[in-house]
Amino acid sequence: MLAGKRILLIIGGGIAAYKSLEVIRLLRRQGASVRCILTEAGSRFVTPLSVAGLSGERVYEDLFSLTDEAEMGHIRLSREADLLVVAPATANLIARMAQGRADDLAATALLATDKPVLLAPAMNVRMWHHPATQENLARVIARGTRTVGPVEGSMACGEYGIGRLAEPPDIVEAVIAALTSGKPLAGRRALVTAGPTLEAIDPIRFISNRSSGKQGYAIASALAEAGAATTLVTGPTSIPAPAGVNTVRVEAAADMLAACNSALPADIAVFTAAVADWRVDSTSSEKIKKQDGAGPPQLHLVENPDILRTIATLPKGRPSLVIGFAAETQDVIAHARTKLARKACDWIVANDVAPATGVLGGDENTVHVVSAAGEETWPKLAKQEVARRLVERVARHFGRGQP
Ligand code: C5P
Repeated sequence: MLAGKRILLIIGGGIAAYKSLEVIRLLRRQGASVRCILTEAGSRFVTPLSVAGLSGERVYEDLFSLTDEAEMGHIRLSREADLLVVAPATANLIARMAQGRADDLAATALLATDKPVLLAPAMNVRMWHHPATQENLARVIARGTRTVGPVEGSMACGEYGIGRLAEPPDIVEAVIAALTSGKPLAGRRALVTAGPTLEAIDPIRFISNRSSGKQGYAIASALAEAGAATTLVTGPTSIPAPAGVNTVRVEAAADMLAACNSALPADIAVFTAAVADWRVDSTSSEKIKKQDGAGPPQLHLVENPDILRTIATLPKGRPSLVIGFAAETQDVIAHARTKLARKACDWIVANDVAPATGVLGGDENTVHVVSAAGEETWPKLAKQEVARRLVERVARHFGRGQP
């Protein structure tokens, strides 16, 4: 599958570094050549000798090594690769990528490259959840970097959660997707909604919700990576616009619906936005004054359009695959089934958003994919991984062929 492909594998630090040896072996078995950069931290977990032995090439270790620079500059290292893979990608390496630092050979090669980059993050569960890591990751993903994993499991440090390196065969799958038939949705058009909507009360105040937009942005990125011409219609979020995605920023539900209509026709529509159910009937054009003794103003709310239902029931030009999300706090699957029918969509991705789950605004999700064909429950996954799997399922639905 990978005959003739040249991989530059950057091995970061961390106990999971030993799995990179298996990644090298599997990549070479697929016919790829693998050249490795071993970071300082990585070299504490695996030896240059074992990396060289398995890759069949010399190992590059230090930006400031005169021999390395003389024999193979960092620019050539990335130029002579078809794909850069970072496994394990540590929190530190992701942070340095986000900042565009060039303080060792690995970071410099990543900064100097214009080739696709695939990260396989691995770190302690709390480091993974730290907002700094998630923000850094969002920044590098927005620049077009792909990810595989991390997955849930027990860790070397004795804790349990998301943060384990994806298994080597899954990393190799992701490499194959990035390099070969990586565009199963080429020629398709996709529409994704994300984030909250913001319904104005007056020029200063508004009604909104806690949706972060993370899941929708991850889906838009994954669809674009799979080759779909993707429009993301998003309410206000703090996430950068994903690379290669036509991002349309809106505030109110009515504007979101108008932007969705403008993005049609589409083959695939995924509605992840947490659209406000109600808006204020008549928005005041001036700030509503607090008047002593007058009491609080009475807000009259009216229902917002149901964007998903509107588009799923279009008599003409309905996208052939319409996917809704259902955020529930109880009886998740039963409610999802009802919603599937009521909203006239093809699949519902249902998740439990009870506050204890931390899904809203969090970085991971346990979802159930409900369709007429039945239902599937996925393990707890990082939102990027949910996106990757969902897009794989979409690609299977379309038979991976050209439209
Ligand atoms: O009815 P409920 O809000 O639970 O439905 C959730 C699904 O419907 C999500 O896919 C959401 O994006 C979509 N939705 C919408 N417009 C609304 C309300 C929900 O597109 N006004």
